[in-house]
Amino acid sequence: MARVVVPDRATRESVMKILVLTGAGISAESGLGTFRDKGGLWSRFDPMKLATPEAFAKDPEQVHAFYNFRRRNVLDAQPNPAHFALARLEAAMADRGDELTLVTQNIDDLHERAGTSRVTHMHGELLKARCAHCQAVSPWRQDLAVSDPCPGCIQQGHMRPHVVWFGEIPLAMDAIQSRLRSADLFVAIGTSGAVYPAAGFVAQAGALGIATCEINLEPSDNTELFDERRYGRASEVVPVWVEEVLAGRPDESTIPRGAKLRSQL
Ligand code: APR
Repeated sequence: MARVVVPDRATRESVMKILVLTGAGISAESGLGTFRDKGGLWSRFDPMKLATPEAFAKDPEQVHAFYNFRRRNVLDAQPNPAHFALARLEAAMADRGDELTLVTQNIDDLHERAGTSRVTHMHGELLKARCAHCQAVSPWRQDLAVSDPCPGCIQQGHMRPHVVWFGEIPLAMDAIQSRLRSADLFVAIGTSGAVYPAAGFVAQAGALGIATCEINLEPSDNTELFDERRYGRASEVVPVWVEEVLAGRPDESTIPRGAKLRSQL
């Protein structure tokens, strides 16, 4: 199994661009349940009754109760070593003039609380609410109710969690796609690869000759598409991977696409 290694900055001519995609698995050890694991959220709650625009139209109180319960859990949770390691990677890469793009499917704020400055939440953010009337997005840390007026247009009855439900288009897809196309390395952490479009990123990356790596508790649904796979708990595996990336050891066979090495090698 090839090991994708990022060569040391001093041996490269070009900026190294890494795109990391995270899923529920990275927040599992922070006490936030995943969706499809044994005892996961979707084995206890019906996503078609709680996480679709139709469900919200039919029974907004029930949908608010579900997301209020999850919002309280997020507020009680703390980032774990995997979140902190990615924050370190972002800072260290920036110091070297390299770029880390962190895209998450998670609606919690644990990446930000761990210190990552730029996080793209493609499925939205639970600590924000959106008015379905004027589309204003407001910070929201307390329970949300149908009667809550929109801080923007002051209208009642239109506030919803600022999350992407099944059947809705994820956020920031144009920016994510352009970052993916210019990446040298794509890494998926703690995601089952069951939900598109995120689950399709690895195939896109592979087709563009971008090196790919999966870090997960167990093989994901599209594990065979990854150049490298590392299995274990994110809190243990991600910090080791980050130290290796920052240590940077040139290895001819698996140098990511953009890393044109300086002649001295
Ligand atoms: N460390 C690493 N990986 C873990 C850990 C852990 N401690 N615990 C679980 N995992 C892995 C599981 O093996 C599984 O492959 O995390 C993955 C979680 O998969 P899902 O529950 O399907 O979550 P995710 O891939 O993020 O779901 C995608 O689906 O329900 C929608 O919008 C929701 O964003 C979500 C999307």
